[in-house]
Amino acid sequence: MHPLPCTCSNRRRTKLPPIPLLGVAHLLLLCIASPTSSCTQEEKISLLKFLEGLSHGSGLTTLWQNETNCCMWEGITCDTDGLVTETSLASMGLEGSISPSLGNLTSLLSLNLSHNSLSGQIPAELLLHRSIVALDVSFNNLHGDLHKLPSILGRDMERDIPDDLYNATSLEHLSFPNNQLHGTLSPENIVKLSNLVTINLANNELSGKIPDSIGQLKRLEELHLKYNSMFGELPSNLSKCSNLKTTILGSNIFHGQLKKFNFSTLSKLEILDIMSNKFTGIVPESLYFCNNLIALRLPSNNFQGQLSPRIGNLKSLKFLSLSNNSFTNITHALQVLKSFENLTTLLIGTNFRGEAMPEDETVDGQIPQQIGNLKALTALNLSFNNLHGEVPQSISNLTNLQLLDLSNNHLTGEIPTALENLHFLSEFNISNNNLEGPIPTGGQFSTYPDSSFVGNPNMCGPMIIHHHCNAVEAGPAPTVSKDLCGADIVLTVSFAVFVGVGVLYDQIVLSRYFG
Ligand SMILES: *[C@@H]1O[C@H](CO)[C@@H](O)[C@H](O)[C@H]1NC(C)=O
Ligand SMILES: *[C@@H]1O[C@H](CO)[C@@H](O)[C@H](O)[C@H]1NC(C)=O
Ligand SMILES: *[C@@H]1O[C@H](CO)[C@@H](O)[C@H](O)[C@H]1NC(C)=O
Ligand SMILES: *[C@@H]1O[C@H](CO)[C@@H](O)[C@H](O)[C@H]1NC(C)=O
Ligand SMILES: *[C@@H]1O[C@H](CO)[C@@H](O)[C@H](O)[C@H]1NC(C)=O
Ligand SMILES: *[C@@H]1O[C@H](CO)[C@@H](O)[C@H](O)[C@H]1NC(C)=O
Ligand SMILES: *[C@@H]1O[C@H](CO)[C@@H](O)[C@H](O)[C@H]1NC(C)=O
Ligand SMILES: *[C@@H]1O[C@H](CO)[C@@H](O)[C@H](O)[C@H]1NC(C)=O
Ligand SMILES: *[C@@H]1O[C@H](CO)[C@@H](O)[C@H](O)[C@H]1NC(C)=O
Ligand SMILES: *[C@@H]1O[C@H](CO)[C@@H](O)[C@H](O)[C@H]1NC(C)=O
Ligand SMILES: *[C@@H]1O[C@H](CO)[C@@H](O)[C@H](O)[C@H]1NC(C)=O
Ligand SMILES: *[C@@H]1O[C@H](CO)[C@@H](O)[C@H](O)[C@H]1NC(C)=O
Repeated sequence: MHPLPCTCSNRRRTKLPPIPLLGVAHLLLLCIASPTSSCTQEEKISLLKFLEGLSHGSGLTTLWQNETNCCMWEGITCDTDGLVTETSLASMGLEGSISPSLGNLTSLLSLNLSHNSLSGQIPAELLLHRSIVALDVSFNNLHGDLHKLPSILGRDMERDIPDDLYNATSLEHLSFPNNQLHGTLSPENIVKLSNLVTINLANNELSGKIPDSIGQLKRLEELHLKYNSMFGELPSNLSKCSNLKTTILGSNIFHGQLKKFNFSTLSKLEILDIMSNKFTGIVPESLYFCNNLIALRLPSNNFQGQLSPRIGNLKSLKFLSLSNNSFTNITHALQVLKSFENLTTLLIGTNFRGEAMPEDETVDGQIPQQIGNLKALTALNLSFNNLHGEVPQSISNLTNLQLLDLSNNHLTGEIPTALENLHFLSEFNISNNNLEGPIPTGGQFSTYPDSSFVGNPNMCGPMIIHHHCNAVEAGPAPTVSKDLCGADIVLTVSFAVFVGVGVLYDQIVLSRYFG
């Protein structure tokens, strides 16, 4: 690549498209308009050291001449003080290692070494550089363990978050998940990183509280602290981080009445995961202002009370898990939840402890017709409850269903033939009910095993051994006393305390939201 006749612009030139004459004219005008600053000796030395570290500079050696102004070198941009602000050497065929000397370019904002054949490690000096905002070393042969970084820089190898980290005041993304970092988030230091957009320190060994000063990180969008040993209440100033989209604090020891925390300012929140902590009290009403929430994960805390009807404000919700808390009034909960349109996963099992299911056969003991509104549902597990009445026709509208488990209830009537329309349904179980009549044979039905249907003495079909439908037509099957139908006996075990709706393969689904 030949240098262009104009030498004032210090942008990289390798990749410029063919320049029409007019373009050259423009460039020449620019020449006159902006005189080039002269690079400092220190900057030049740092760049030449980098050049020395390359085993194959692909012509860079001839382009970067010691005698010339380094602000005019290929790929280099300087500010008016002659300090290098940008180094753009993508796709230059560079081989060799990245010299730590680049870390001495104190005003460097952007370093792009992508698409070369560089090897060795990324110098820590670059990763913790004060001013770099963009570092692109993708598509090289770099190796080394980023996890070792804290130990390189930590004051001893205990792996505390190194204090020097907080010098990187331009840092936007602080991401050290899956290490063994100890220590706490220092309240004084964290605010130095006022440009942070992401904090990902999930799966470490951090303790201490989330400092109240975190409220000063106005740009913060993602906070991942899952799987640590952090404790304390949620600091009220966290609600000042109004750009937060993702807040994942699960599996810590956070405690306190969550209702003290005001969520209403976090209107951009899309994912909230505070599972497996020690939060108590009611789910705060202010949470229902966060109407961009897509995934809400609250299980394994000690939340109490009835579900607020206002949870229905969360129209975008796709994933909702409330399981293993102390919520009350299942009748109410089901009424409230049925309004969700786009929900694909609903987990409310292990709540409603000691609560008597309505013994009479009035409405919610039944599976509500409105269940057909949850059209996005992929799994519905209502097993081991006290459900009476018929299997609602409307379930046939849940065409995304892959799993339907209605086993171990008191359901009566026939299986709606419309269920044949559930083409994705691969797991089906209606065993141990009081269903009767023929089993549909179309759709997926021929693929379900006998055990999907057992324990319904008045049901018949080709799949049920010894109970062919012809026999029913020839003469009614021997009437089995209702008492012996098994339902009441089986159900005494656990139904009163357990309702499970949703997918059990929690983690698989979650990985879509909490990757
Ligand atoms: C660059 O030039 C200076 C003097 O102009 C000299 O001292 C230095 O050794 C040279 N550096 C290299 C790498 O050639
Ligand atoms: C950075 O600059 C200092 C001072 O000029 C120098 O002593 C040091 O060796 C340089 N570091 C690298 C990695 O070149
Ligand atoms: C680095 O340069 C490559 C090639 O020009 C470009 O695709 C990439 O977006 C640049 N990286 C950054 C962070 O700008
Ligand atoms: C970080 O800043 C402190 C105080 O300003 C200073 O003592 C320390 O040397 C700096 N560390 C690095 C790696 O620049
Ligand atoms: C928390 O917010 C209050 C009110 O804005 C403010 O006065 C206080 O300084 C903040 N606390 C911290 C530690 O930033
Ligand atoms: C929460 O904050 C909003 C807006 O700042 C305010 O209107 C509301 O009263 C607060 N709610 C509570 C319970 O403090
Ligand atoms: C349910 O939550 C309790 C704490 O509230 C926890 O100890 C228990 O392991 C959780 N159970 C499950 C199955 O997650
Ligand atoms: C449900 O999802 C569809 C498709 O993504 C969207 O158009 C619709 O607005 C959503 N409904 C609500 C209530 O958010
Ligand atoms: C439970 O919810 C139902 C339906 O919303 C309501 O009628 C009933 O009063 C509630 N029970 C209690 C104990 O609050
Ligand atoms: C439905 O939930 C029950 C109770 O948790 C469980 O035993 C059963 O395996 C689930 N059904 C399916 C098909 O996963
Ligand atoms: C299925 O959904 C359609 C359209 O939403 C509705 O008209 C129909 O009544 C539903 N069928 C049942 C059985 O609920
Ligand atoms: C259906 O549920 C019953 C009882 O809960 C169980 O024994 C049987 O294996 C299940 N069958 C299928 C196909 O899941």
